[in-house]
Amino acid sequence: AGIDAGLLRAGEGEPVAAALARTLTILYGTETGNARDLAKQLAASATERGLAPKLADLADYKARGLKDEQDLLFIVSTGGEGDPPAPAIGFFEFLEGPRAPKLPDARFAVLALGDSTYEQYCEAGKRVDRRMEELGATRLAERIDCDIDYEEQAAAWSDALLDRLLAELAAAGSPAQASARPVTAAASATHDKRNPFAATVLENIRIVGRHSTKETRHVELDLTGSGLAYQPGDALGVAAQNGAGAIEDLLGACGLGGSEEVALKGATMPLADALRDRFEISTASPRFAEQWATLSDAAELKALAAGEPHVRHAFLEQHHVADIVRRFPVPGVGADALLAGLRPLQPRLYSLASSQAAVGDEAHLTVAPVRYQLHGSDRGGVASTQIADRLEMGATVPVYVQENPHFRLPGDEVPVIMVGPGTGVAPFRAFLQEREARGAPGRNWLFFGERNFRSDFLYQVEWQEWLEKGPLTRLDVAFSRDAGEKVYVQHRMLERSADLYAWLEEGAHFYVCGNAKAMAADVHGALISIVERAGGRTREAAEDYVRELTANHRYSRDVY
Ligand code: 2AM
Repeated sequence: AGIDAGLLRAGEGEPVAAALARTLTILYGTETGNARDLAKQLAASATERGLAPKLADLADYKARGLKDEQDLLFIVSTGGEGDPPAPAIGFFEFLEGPRAPKLPDARFAVLALGDSTYEQYCEAGKRVDRRMEELGATRLAERIDCDIDYEEQAAAWSDALLDRLLAELAAAGSPAQASARPVTAAASATHDKRNPFAATVLENIRIVGRHSTKETRHVELDLTGSGLAYQPGDALGVAAQNGAGAIEDLLGACGLGGSEEVALKGATMPLADALRDRFEISTASPRFAEQWATLSDAAELKALAAGEPHVRHAFLEQHHVADIVRRFPVPGVGADALLAGLRPLQPRLYSLASSQAAVGDEAHLTVAPVRYQLHGSDRGGVASTQIADRLEMGATVPVYVQENPHFRLPGDEVPVIMVGPGTGVAPFRAFLQEREARGAPGRNWLFFGERNFRSDFLYQVEWQEWLEKGPLTRLDVAFSRDAGEKVYVQHRMLERSADLYAWLEEGAHFYVCGNAKAMAADVHGALISIVERAGGRTREAAEDYVRELTANHRYSRDVY
């Protein structure tokens, strides 16, 4: 009912969907861009197949319009602690709040993105799925939860949904496929996540003093000939390799040599190479525990694999792949059986520390190697330790640009407040390079924090030059381990409440980059307190004020 095939004017080139009773809207919530990329692909294939989808970022979507929607496809990622993507928080507040409308006529489907090594796996997508049902909408398909290797599963989900929608059209007598036209290939860069560019290392130096407790490095890569372009605020994806130590540790635990030939999607290679280039071999996912439990006789492992997610998660936090193998040995295990439970190695994202307006075909990164001990042996982050230990000048590393449209400089006149402790300062070096190159008149205020003034004042000379000559207007620093008492960036912000509030009232945009767990939440709390005190508002009014900043794209976070 409601589909009037007589309205079709296919010969006049009208999209078939113009004649449909039901509209199709694709909504995405993204933090690092994966959900956005998937949503764009889905919209492109829907269009190619004759539908006329509307595509929107939850960051910009007017949630009040939900009541007018008919078919809704959500692609939503989840942050490490189970949170919705920061730019989508306003949408979640509306959707889960009391003012959300009943949606008895809507249909929906959810693709949830996440990382199965986190306990709150795909939680944001689960919340949308649950709430849409509560509001009375009908599921077009069961929700799917996708791990870091989401590509194939997502493509199958998209195809199945489009098949279903098109079958409905066909049943209603509408020749939807007839208007199919080839998608014009986007004239984008030839290098992306699937096809990274081998960038040459121009510089890779330690930028903290020898007494520092950190090993933070500044890295410069050559992008010449890549066609890669980026904006300040974007990230660089680095396709790193696992280190020899971690590979040998795992091979030794399994009793494998490494020279065993394995077949992977059309290519055969020695197991050791596959472990170096293709698989996550440190953190174990729940799937690895489940898969290893099918090989092992150990009752403890079988109980863990099938038991309480909370208990399994706590165990996996303390046991990498090699630790599980050592604790629950499977004598004579084959290379294929080992690989069956491992996830594909993912590139790591680093906020770009440079602006192309200043450095041209280079990409600069600020990298602090992640190192720690587990079960008495040295462990570390895949990309950060490769950069620190195994990426000499002249070497190459595969990279691509990951856009971050939610973290962008405003117009040249608009004042900017930046909070970037530690390596979180990276994108603000890019911001200042850009504003200097553009001669942007807007004021710039940076809050930087690290442990010790003498050893850890990252890019100190650059900030001081920018303070003297512009474009840096103000610099406030918090060195947490110089004095007896901890001083953090948010303490400096609170000390400057009146000025900070005045900047906000003058239209400043507020940016935070760095540690997601404690810092970003504490800075958020400080911002609310500042608006409360300096603005003479109630707590609730201050919270609303900060919410408005987010909704108006004046408060952006790049946290990890
Ligand atoms: P700390 O290591 O002395 O605790 C960059 O890592 C800087 O951020 C360091 O000075 C670190 O201090 C500080 N830091 C740690 N936790 C923080 C928090 N919750 N808020 C702000 N800064 C924090």
